Amino acid sequence: MTAGAAGLREMRWWDIAPVLELEHDLFPEDAWSPGMFWSELAHARGPFATRRYLVAEQDGRIVGYGGLAAIDGTGDIQTIAIARDQWGTGLGGRLLAELLGAATDFECREVLLEVRVDNARAQRLYERFGFEPIGFRRGYYQPGNVDALVMRLTTQTSSEAPSVQGT
Ligand SMILES: CC(C)(COP(=O)(O)OP(=O)(O)OC[C@H]1O[C@@H](n2cnc3c(N)ncnc32)[C@H](O)[C@@H]1OP(=O)(O)O)[C@@H](O)C(=O)NCCC(=O)NCCS
Repeated sequence: MTAGAAGLREMRWWDIAPVLELEHDLFPEDAWSPGMFWSELAHARGPFATRRYLVAEQDGRIVGYGGLAAIDGTGDIQTIAIARDQWGTGLGGRLLAELLGAATDFECREVLLEVRVDNARAQRLYERFGFEPIGFRRGYYQPGNVDALVMRLTTQTSSEAPSVQGT
């Protein structure tokens, strides 16, 4: 029997535990705490929601997650991660496309993100979607004092175009 393709859906509080397992595997030095995920999800529902958090689920297992914050027309990719055994299958791209769709829904004019300067794989993914480097944040990642590359995707609001460019 072949495994089914991963499906994307809204992240809920009961996903926090399996998401944290991935988080600690993929970001061992600066993993988010449970409280950070709880706080993000607290802003993800209702008429004044400013967050969109998604998980990728395959055969009952959480294999990826990502989140976008949208404040005053600016989106921010807060986090995106895929289980190692799923890298290179296109799942990161699907998740990012969905988050950019959320940015369109929030009528964001631009989407920003920070990525470690040594994370070439993630940078390639973002470039593929049209993100461009705009600067550095020195020593952004602690411990380790690693710089962040800040990248930006300029988008169009829904009144100007039907969807975010770059997909
Ligand atoms: C960065 C990350 C999210 C990318 O996820 P991913 O699922 O591997 O991304 P994709 O599969 O969409 O793209 C990766 C590569 O697979 C290729 N690919 C895309 N679709 C594919 C498919 N259907 N079949 C085979 N390969 C495919 C892409 O062309 C891309 O190739 P490239 O490396 O030459 O650019 C993932 O590596 C990860 O979780 N890393 C650790 C956490 C992290 O660094 N997060 C980012 C923090 S800023």
